[in-house]
Amino acid sequence: MTNQVTLTQFIIEQQRGLPEASGTFTLLLNNIVTACKQISHRVNCGALIGVLGSAESENVQGEVQKLDIITNDIMVRALDWSGSLGGMASEEINDPIQIPKQYPKGKYLVLFDPLDGSSNIDINLTVGTIFSILRCREGVEPEPEDFLRKGSEQVCAGFVLYGPSTMLVLTTGNGVNGFTLDQDVGEFILTHCNMKIPEDASEFAINMSNQRFWEAPIKRYVDECVAGSDGPRERDFNMRWVASLVAEVYRILNRGGVFMYPFDLRDPAKPGKLRLLYEANPMAFIIEQAGGACSTGRERVLDVKPTSIHQRVPLILGSKNEVERIVGYHRDTDGAA
Ligand code: F6P
Ligand code: MN
Repeated sequence: MTNQVTLTQFIIEQQRGLPEASGTFTLLLNNIVTACKQISHRVNCGALIGVLGSAESENVQGEVQKLDIITNDIMVRALDWSGSLGGMASEEINDPIQIPKQYPKGKYLVLFDPLDGSSNIDINLTVGTIFSILRCREGVEPEPEDFLRKGSEQVCAGFVLYGPSTMLVLTTGNGVNGFTLDQDVGEFILTHCNMKIPEDASEFAINMSNQRFWEAPIKRYVDECVAGSDGPRERDFNMRWVASLVAEVYRILNRGGVFMYPFDLRDPAKPGKLRLLYEANPMAFIIEQAGGACSTGRERVLDVKPTSIHQRVPLILGSKNEVERIVGYHRDTDGAA
């Protein structure tokens, strides 16, 4: 018990090594963590608190919501007063969220998906919260453009998984660490030090029901996986689809594999399903810090220059050699065109 490292201790010890650290970042992270503990509690209560079931309203992305909105409010209320933020952006809200006038403005921006995988809420499967932290100009009201920054500029990214146990996975650009919530004590405890993704893997995750809309490189990759030991890969593959990005990324961090929500031809207005700023960028930062790779198929996700805050991108992430293979298949197809 005594040699357990809490998240607070871990962050403070990391910040001590940085002469410019003022404690603001530690406060910000603590506030995010407090919000996530509250969300974890709500998710755990499930149907008991009557927030499940079909929702009346739709969010800006056209998806049903109920607990999504409650969790969004929990995040906003936990963060807006602290003086550490210039502004926030949420997957659930159309425009950037301003800091109320009565509070000071700080040097960070937070972008978040308060409840990822929300189609899983009603069926008691894993959901999560994803967040991304950027620096901003201090003391001024951020313009919408201030949020449109490449993922490579993130100073921190993390996600909390509300699964059989509640876990926080975090990077500040110095590797990836995992913390498990001790529900009795109310603290996140360091349980997964320096997580590393195996470079090779034999497991893929994709929503197969979209197969007819995929481009040739994705069809080729999946066909080859499915052909298994009878095909060019000369080994069998396994497939998983949880329909919660947080759960898929957590699995990949632990045992490798590849996750794809690729470009598809269903709707030209939507080049993918997942959001660049709230989902792809924070996951890309984490995956790369754990030794994996993350691409749209044609570009490193962390290099994509955002054009709007709710922008969607194709997303392919996971074990380095598998992602590079898929990127290579895109190159082959584009080169032959
Ligand atoms: O937030 C979007 C999301 O729920 C992801 O967490 C998940 O990976 C994906 O959508 C599931 O998509 P689909 O409903 O197509 O399976
Ligand atoms: Mn999501």
